[in-house]
Order: sequence, then C-alpha cells, then structure tokens
Amino acid sequence: MVLLGVETSCDETAAAVVTEDGRILSNVVSSQAELHARFGGVVPEVASRRHLELVAPVVQGALAEAGTSLDGIDAVAVTRGPGLIGALLVGISAAKAIAWSRGLPLIPVDHLHGHVASLYLQPDDVEPPFLCLLASGGHTLLLDVQDRTGFTVLGSTLDDAAGEAFDKGARLLGLGYPGGAAIDRLAREGDPEAYRFPVARVQGLDFSFSGLKTALLYAVRDLSTEELEARRADLAASYQRAIVRALVGRATEAAEQSGHSRIAVVGGVAANSELRAALPGAALAPLPLCTDNAAMIASAARYATAVPFPEYLALDAYATAA
Ligand SMILES: Nc1ncnc2c1ncn2[C@@H]1O[C@H](COP(=O)(O)OP(=O)(O)OP(=O)(O)O)[C@@H](O)[C@H]1O
Ligand SMILES: [Mg+2]
Repeated sequence: MVLLGVETSCDETAAAVVTEDGRILSNVVSSQAELHARFGGVVPEVASRRHLELVAPVVQGALAEAGTSLDGIDAVAVTRGPGLIGALLVGISAAKAIAWSRGLPLIPVDHLHGHVASLYLQPDDVEPPFLCLLASGGHTLLLDVQDRTGFTVLGSTLDDAAGEAFDKGARLLGLGYPGGAAIDRLAREGDPEAYRFPVARVQGLDFSFSGLKTALLYAVRDLSTEELEARRADLAASYQRAIVRALVGRATEAAEQSGHSRIAVVGGVAANSELRAALPGAALAPLPLCTDNAAMIASAARYATAVPFPEYLALDAYATAA
C-alpha cells in the first residue's frame, strides 16, 4: 500500500508519498515563513490563501518526485487538526477531492500523532514504548507512548509553547521570525552562563515559559543599542540554555515517573542542536522531519482508522487538541 500525505495545519504546505512499511518516496515542503516574516508571525487568512495556491503544485511535486501518479496511490492521509481552521480546510478539501475522484479511502490524522509518527519512518524506525517530548511552535507535551496508534498526555505547558518561547525570544533579540533556528545559530557564539535566566518550576509534569520571556525582555530593555549588539550572542545562548534545561529536566523526570527507560524528542524544537546534544541517549526525530511535513502525517495514517469511500465528504477540521 502507498499513501499520499497532505499537511496544511499552519504555514507549511506539504505533501509526501510513503509506503506502508515506512519508506519515504518523496517529501515536499513549501514553507510560507518568508511571507509571514514581515508580520512577525503567521497571519491565518494569508496562510489559507497561500495554501490554496500551493496545495496542487506541492501534491504534483510529491507524486513526481516519488516517480508515480495518482494511479500508484492507495489511500490519502490528511491532517485534520489541531491547527488554523482555514489552513486545515484547504488541505482537507484537497485530500477529499483527490480521494473521492479516485474512489480511495481517506485517513484523517491528528497533527500531534503525526509529529510522534516522524519516529516510525525508515531507516531509523523507533519501536514504542517510550516517553516522548513533543516540542513545537504550538505545543510542549510529555507523552506516554505505549504503541503506534496514539499516546497519553502526562504534561503540557501552562502558557507558551517551547517553540513560541524561542520565537518570542528571537523577536526581542531582533532576529526575525521564525526565530528558533536563528537563536540556535547565534547561541553557538555566546556564553550560555552569561545570564542566569529563571527556569520556572511548576507542579507536576507541566512547563511554563512566560516568566523566562519576561526575564529576557527586562535584560534587553536595560541595554543600549550598542550593548545589545555586543551581548546578543550571550543572551541567545543563556536563553536557549534555560529552555533546554527545562525541557531536559522535565522529560527526564517524566521518564522516571512513568517507568520509561527511553526518551524520544519530536517537533520543530527537536531540531535544536543544544537539546539534541543534551539528550545523547534519546531517539531524536530526523532533522528534516522535526518541523511540519507530510511524511509524518502519512506515517501516522498507517496506524489510524481509514474512512472508506465515499463516507468522508462531511469530514470536518478541528482547531484545538481533542
Ligand atoms: N533549531 C531550532 N531550535 C529551536 N527551535 C526551533 C529550531 N528549528 C525550528 N524551531 C522552532 O520550531 C517551531 C516550529 O515547529 P513545528 O513546525 O513543529 O511547529 P508548528 O507546527 O507551528 O506547531 P504545532 O506542531 O504545535 O502545531 C518554531 O517555533 C521554530 O522556532
Ligand atoms: Mg507542527
């Protein structure tokens, strides 16, 4: 069985072709980041319109790169939520149209299950059980993963997501949007111990990053333009250190408490070089599969329930995690 995956939950228009045994035949991602950079964040209406322009060429690109056509596709997988409603509906409508025109089944996929399923692709297929840290632009979750069909949430963020903390920090440091990768790069030139930013200790297995962001705001506010220029790398390194310390600390605690001997890390923030280095024994999502892509959606679809033709025409999107 060969799956076509479609992902449009935020600002990446993505399509991929994946086999049932987890081989990626193609993985095309068209990022809209530049389009949204001038607004300092994703503008939902702008994202939806751009998805509308890009979805057909991106799907065509994925089929061509895989050396196939719709004749070679057995099922269509699509992100159903969580995400921006208008953006999701573009992908869902496209996926329904493709599946319906070919009489194929449609497999709706939860985007967060997709991030976890980035670990189930070849050549580095990770076998559950494990404790999974999902750190992305919209979520920071600690997940108990017992099998490939889903997960149980053990902890979450009380305010900002880890990726959001990176992005807001980058904005305060004048590094543009999205800022996670920019902080990662600049931090290599700075001293991570130059500033002692607080890591909030909240109860249970939850996270809180809003205090950290405020601490950076105060540190930046006290500096002149020249001083900020001179300390920018130190600020980036110290800020990144605080986020990584919080993520690693809580993931380790969660693994101990839930009896997992293995930790896995997925989501956009899993691309962070300091986080990857801080968890040497962990199963890390492959770099190209950390940020949003459709290979992970097709991967999750292998373990989700297919809706047979033509029962999916009324299928709806959902904005927030169920
Ligand atoms: N090297 C890096 N270091 C830190 N953060 C990074 C790095 N690369 C990307 N990010 C962050 O990852 C986030 C994007 O990840 P992803 O695409 O998984 O999130 P999303 O899809 O917007 O959110 P969600 O999956 O929760 O809906 C951004 O916040 C970005 O700054
Ligand atoms: Mg995502």
